Amino acid sequence: GVGSSRRGKAAKASAAMATVAGLNVKQVPTKPYEGQKTGTSGLRKKTKDFMQENYLANWIQSLFNALGDEVKGQSLGLGGDGRYFGKEAAQIIIKLAAGNGFKKVVVGQDALMATPAASAMIRRRKLYGGLIMSASHNPGGPDNDFGIKFNYSGGEPAPERITDKIFGETTKVATLNMADIPDIDLSKVGVTKFGDFEVEVVDPVADYLATLSEVFDFGLLRSFLARKDFSLVFDAMHAVTGPYAKRILVEELGAPASCVKDGVPSPDFNGGHPDPNLTYAEELVKIMWAEQAPAFGAASDGDGDRNMILGHKFFVNPSDSVAIIAANAQACIPYFKGGLKGVARSMPTSGALDRVAADLQVPFFETPTGWKFFGNLMDAGKCSVCGEESFGTGGDHIREKDGIFAVLSWLSILAFANKDVPEGGRLTTVQDVAIAHWKKYGRNFFSRYDYEECADADANKMMDHLRAIIAAAKPGDKFGDFVLATADDFEYTDPIDGSKASKQGLRFIFTDGSRIIFRLSGTGSSGSTIRLYIEQYTADPSKLMLDAQEALAPIVKVALEVSKLQEFTSRTSPTVIT
Ligand code: G6P
Ligand code: ZN
Repeated sequence: GVGSSRRGKAAKASAAMATVAGLNVKQVPTKPYEGQKTGTSGLRKKTKDFMQENYLANWIQSLFNALGDEVKGQSLGLGGDGRYFGKEAAQIIIKLAAGNGFKKVVVGQDALMATPAASAMIRRRKLYGGLIMSASHNPGGPDNDFGIKFNYSGGEPAPERITDKIFGETTKVATLNMADIPDIDLSKVGVTKFGDFEVEVVDPVADYLATLSEVFDFGLLRSFLARKDFSLVFDAMHAVTGPYAKRILVEELGAPASCVKDGVPSPDFNGGHPDPNLTYAEELVKIMWAEQAPAFGAASDGDGDRNMILGHKFFVNPSDSVAIIAANAQACIPYFKGGLKGVARSMPTSGALDRVAADLQVPFFETPTGWKFFGNLMDAGKCSVCGEESFGTGGDHIREKDGIFAVLSWLSILAFANKDVPEGGRLTTVQDVAIAHWKKYGRNFFSRYDYEECADADANKMMDHLRAIIAAAKPGDKFGDFVLATADDFEYTDPIDGSKASKQGLRFIFTDGSRIIFRLSGTGSSGSTIRLYIEQYTADPSKLMLDAQEALAPIVKVALEVSKLQEFTSRTSPTVIT
């Protein structure tokens, strides 16, 4: 409002000047904002909060304060998912980086950079770190969300020791070091110098493409996509992966331009919710469930780290997807041709991957929910492929989950499976690949029920009730027809650094391998989201093709009874079913 812009002018008038690397730097007085709590996904708030006078600048300055003298003379990556306020935010960040002693900022053209691409760029250019302006799959625009996160020099999300420190700094930040330089033209690739400081505007796809071309056999993919009897559609959901899909799938691999749906990043994602699942990617689902459909469908989220893979009238559950990619990686993906070093999944993700690990005789790790837990394993050379039920799949080529990696992995599997099928012959489909996998390993039926925006108190009472049941439970206890093997609150000790994470989800594991898991979401923005994960394994060939909801109905019933979910929350049905 008017008041705040007056305050802004007053602050600027009283700002002291200093000189950093030959630049004039204004020392702008500021006052802390409350609630700038930083998680591993950075700071996510309403766009309007971020647009308050010094809100973004305070957090960035706090980050630089937390990092200390280490940042002097370093290079910083920058980019975002194209959402509203990103371009303005980039200008503020560039001035602060210069004012705090960075020697260089490498920023994606038009302030764009997908999260996996930022990770690749940091690694390839050996940057000190990078800032990603994104609220992932949350809707964007002036009335929705904005976000900012920091990735460190390995391309991985900032570890807790840094995020805690940033938060501490946000509560006492008093001065913003703003270089007195003009706004940069972010629409043109090139270098602009100010004293000893420079800004390089780069093609946001180039480094990422270079990394992916080292992972995959682009020649194999090119000849597969050239087949007249194969077609695909990639839904960028009006978010950042549009330019990536055009460049990689169309220009590099030769797919027709029409295969990219909604490929122009829009500041509010065209009013949509850029989350690739059966609910929010309903337009893609409609295309893939039509009688005449492409053979392969995929979508990615706002910032390009999540993915969904579809065949004709067929949904690949993310828990199956990572298992199938792991099982086929060595044969189909050159980067993995020496074999996998190990594999990992988050605890609620189904056990399909466990069976592949046992078969391949490679180390297997079960981590808490959250991509950050994979980083240490990858750095230690113990994990090549990992994934989560929450539509995240990735490899150790970078340190973020990677939507286009999942797409190219599936295309590689299909290309390999069809290399001896003559054009016009019977193509091996996505569904065929999944069925062949289930025939070999059995099928882990899996579903997730989300109960969004429950009252915090109700959700907590239900979790307490379940904790009490777990405390009293003994192996052999019967829950419906299921016999309990063990029940606990998941705890993880990082095998690399020994750090512990506790209370990571309540789980009931039955003697037949079936599981019921309850967790409260760590990413919801209002109230509590209860997640109920249900899994049941079968090796019975006559049951492999059952519908997941049908197959899981008996165990879902047990889960709802034992939790008294309906009684505690008054919810008769989930808001989202995956
Ligand atoms: C983010 C993280 C994922 C994680 C997911 C869990 O997307 O990047 O690694 O699996 O959140 O979200 P939840 O809402 O279940 O805590
Ligand atoms: Zn994301």
